[in-house]
Amino acid sequence: MVRIGVVGTGGWGKNHVRVLNELQCLAAVCDMDRERADAFSKSFHVPGYASLDDMLKKEKLDAVTICTPASTHFQMATKVLAAGTNAFVEKPMTTTVRDAEQLIQAAKDANRALTVGFIERFNPPITGLKQMITEGKMGEPILLEFHRENRRGQNISDVGIVKDASVHDIDTACWLFGEVPKVVYARVGAAFVPLEHEDFAAILLGFSGQKTAFLVTNWVTPNRVRTLSAVFSGGVVDVDFVTQQTSIHEGAATTVPARPYQEPLMLELKAFVEAIQAKKQPLVTGKDGLNVLKVAEAVLASSKSGTPIYLG
Ligand SMILES: NC(=O)c1ccc[n+]([C@@H]2O[C@H](COP(=O)([O-])OP(=O)(O)OC[C@H]3O[C@@H](n4cnc5c(N)ncnc54)[C@H](O)[C@@H]3O)[C@@H](O)[C@H]2O)c1
Repeated sequence: MVRIGVVGTGGWGKNHVRVLNELQCLAAVCDMDRERADAFSKSFHVPGYASLDDMLKKEKLDAVTICTPASTHFQMATKVLAAGTNAFVEKPMTTTVRDAEQLIQAAKDANRALTVGFIERFNPPITGLKQMITEGKMGEPILLEFHRENRRGQNISDVGIVKDASVHDIDTACWLFGEVPKVVYARVGAAFVPLEHEDFAAILLGFSGQKTAFLVTNWVTPNRVRTLSAVFSGGVVDVDFVTQQTSIHEGAATTVPARPYQEPLMLELKAFVEAIQAKKQPLVTGKDGLNVLKVAEAVLASSKSGTPIYLG
């Protein structure tokens, strides 16, 4: 049995706790908010800790999933890896490229897996789209247009929307095209002032050849929008990340494949557990986490300078 501890049992971490319990892998929970740690410990019949150090010292764990705020990820993951434990870090992997590079080195030194919570790769319509690209069924992919919009959540304050939310679509674009962009051009801004960080972004990513991704992310739109329109030489595929519906448009015909709804977090954590069991690198690598941060930092730099940023 794979034994996994969860650190951070807030808005998102509580889902890790629930899903890992369903997978029979939940071994311990940790939250600096002692009441939360105790409540989850009681509900799920696992030991609860208020400090990661204590959990790592007292429990023999195969992995820890890190669901604390982004600004703590580097410190948390460094400790987890140094304890000889595999690390699943929620997105963004770290808040800076420098920390991401150090974390990759720490994983190498510890000979342990490091993965990042880019959950959309496990969302069934995105898995299906990746398969369509691999099989070449719709011809060449040319343009990916992402919309990730909703009114701002209350609990995110340590990073702006680019490092919090656009990172999902940056990773999906890189994964679908199978490469990292060559050029980044963006405008970001703060619609609801005073805000320390940006709350909207329009991002253009230029890949090899003519392949292009356009990402609109904001915490302004009142309703929740999570869509991708993928333009191929042979047609268009529209995806709704929330309903998981895929619509395939070829000429005048539209088909909507029937597919049962599956919880992306369940698929993501199941794949992580299987990778740990098989001692294999998880689908999302530390390098993927680093590449996304490089793009995210280029987005902010491009907006500041008003110029495209070319990635080496
Ligand atoms: N993959 C996704 O779709 C998705 C969705 C939402 C959030 N997230 C990510 O999950 C992470 C957490 O987000 P959230 O919305 O749950 O935040 P949150 O603020 O609701 O919860 C964070 C929890 O971590 C605890 N915590 C903070 N510092 C700690 C420490 N040093 N030691 C132990 N516990 C500590 C807090 O007490 C809190 O309970 C973020 O990285 C966020 O980007 C991912």
